[in-house]
Amino acid sequence: MEERIISTEISEFDERFEQSLRPQYLSQYIGQEKVKNNLDIFVKAAKMRKESLDHVLLYGPPGLGKTTLAAVIANEMEVNIRMTSGPAIERPGDLAAIVSSLEPGDVLFIDEIHRLNRSIEEVLYPAMEDFCLDIVVGKGPSARSVRLDLPPFTLIGATTRAGALSAPLRDRFGVLLRLDYYDNQALTEIVSRSATLFEAEIDHPSAGEIASRSRGTPRIANRLLKRVRDFAQVRGNGIISIDTAQEALELMQVDALGLDHIDHKLLLGMIERFKGKPVGLDTIAAIIGEESTTIEEVYEPYLLQIGFLQRTPRGRVVTKLAYDHFNYPYFEE
Ligand code: ADE
Repeated sequence: MEERIISTEISEFDERFEQSLRPQYLSQYIGQEKVKNNLDIFVKAAKMRKESLDHVLLYGPPGLGKTTLAAVIANEMEVNIRMTSGPAIERPGDLAAIVSSLEPGDVLFIDEIHRLNRSIEEVLYPAMEDFCLDIVVGKGPSARSVRLDLPPFTLIGATTRAGALSAPLRDRFGVLLRLDYYDNQALTEIVSRSATLFEAEIDHPSAGEIASRSRGTPRIANRLLKRVRDFAQVRGNGIISIDTAQEALELMQVDALGLDHIDHKLLLGMIERFKGKPVGLDTIAAIIGEESTTIEEVYEPYLLQIGFLQRTPRGRVVTKLAYDHFNYPYFEE
């Protein structure tokens, strides 16, 4: 698949520079007000009772800060965090090794928890519920189950697909929090904050310009900021003005709404070839030469989110909003 600047997927490169931008405490975390208010209460209550925090499930689209928030929670609770992911835990023994090494109150963060093996989920249930592990020792007729006590800990699970979680696992989380796309004001603040940490000079309108093209996603905003900063440094005096910001974003082919050349190809292909008629997923896949699952999981979500595409029983339809964006005349069917 072609690499896109507006991708929500994390690269190794992102990982390194996101690390330096991560807020450490709730007070530094911008946006997601409802989530923050809830967490603030749960954290304070748990600390007053001197108990571990209830297990937390964070869900929502990629790039919105689930991992960051997990680290913030651990900081606020003043405990250690162990980070792993669903696909990284291959055998029940892997999980047993991790949970049995935790200190009382620690946070265990499992990213992409919907990808956890069912056999591992089975080990996780008693660990979450009763803080114990049932381990089978020995083989054949002499095999027996040994119960191992664990320190109380907090599991923080993160997933982009809450619906893909098994019901028994979902039910064992005391706190379920959904992260949503950031509004422009919050994203502008995030861009300004990141610029300060990068020691890049940027004014409010320029931060707003980057924010409005970032698809409500801090990961994209920070990536765009970095490229705009490079552009300002090479082409100008290093200071990011609205002109340099716009010019850099044009060069990256990210339009006013954060759509890139692939979004354009997809939407214009549908408009020009199908004149507003419903188009099947496989046909869209053929237009841009990608697998249909990629269309569904990568290309479509943002276009559906901003109302440029609609799913109908007869196929995908481009809406009037998209026609207007491209200055194409729209005729009602
Ligand atoms: N960097 C990325 N996401 C952030 C957020 N929500 N608050 C502050 N800085 C961030």
